[in-house]
Amino acid sequence: MDVFKAINWRRSVRRFSPKKIEREKVLQILEAARLAPSSSNRQAWHFIVVDDQPIIAQIPDTAPVGTRRIVDFIKNAPLVIVGCYTKALTHYIAQLSGHENHLVDVSIAMCQMTLAATELGIGTCWVGWFGESRLRTLLNVPRRYKVVALLVLGYPAEPSTDESIGGIPPRPRKDLKEIVSRNRFGESY
Ligand SMILES: Cc1cc2nc3c(=O)[nH]c(=O)nc-3n(C[C@H](O)[C@H](O)[C@H](O)COP(=O)(O)O)c2cc1C
Repeated sequence: MDVFKAINWRRSVRRFSPKKIEREKVLQILEAARLAPSSSNRQAWHFIVVDDQPIIAQIPDTAPVGTRRIVDFIKNAPLVIVGCYTKALTHYIAQLSGHENHLVDVSIAMCQMTLAATELGIGTCWVGWFGESRLRTLLNVPRRYKVVALLVLGYPAEPSTDESIGGIPPRPRKDLKEIVSRNRFGESY
């Protein structure tokens, strides 16, 4: 699969088959994160691979009350990868540049994981609705680590088609005209 096919074919998958993801495939997905670019090549990230079903089942309860319904689907996923970064490694650089480069680094690595998973026929869904302190307690995340996002993974419950993984219809996207400028903001490309 070329990268454009994977980008087009990917969807957020929220319904999973009970089939476990093979360890070698999990390692391939993690390798896609390991090879991602990072600010000053700091690689300040850490990824927690959660494959213990009783722990996965508790993740939605860490989300703020009122948002748990949005993430309830996680309970039926075979795998969750939690993306974190070490504040100790990134603090100085973040202060110097004023940019949240560490957040960007983890996001790029997680994006590469979504594409690698897609290539392997494995569905993914980013999850931003989580309660950091409760998740920290559940997964024993040290205080010097910040949790950025969760990536929920599993084989889709529904068969894939030529159009998309899991046969999921596309969500609408803005037209390029709305999101791109040429030379100066607002000038059309
Ligand atoms: C940073 C981020 C956080 C997200 N958080 C959630 C979430 O908490 N729950 C959820 O069901 N989907 C979540 N999503 C998935 C988006 O809803 C989804 O990407 C968007 O609707 C576009 O659909 P598509 O991924 O199928 O193209 C998140 C996506 C991103 C990038």
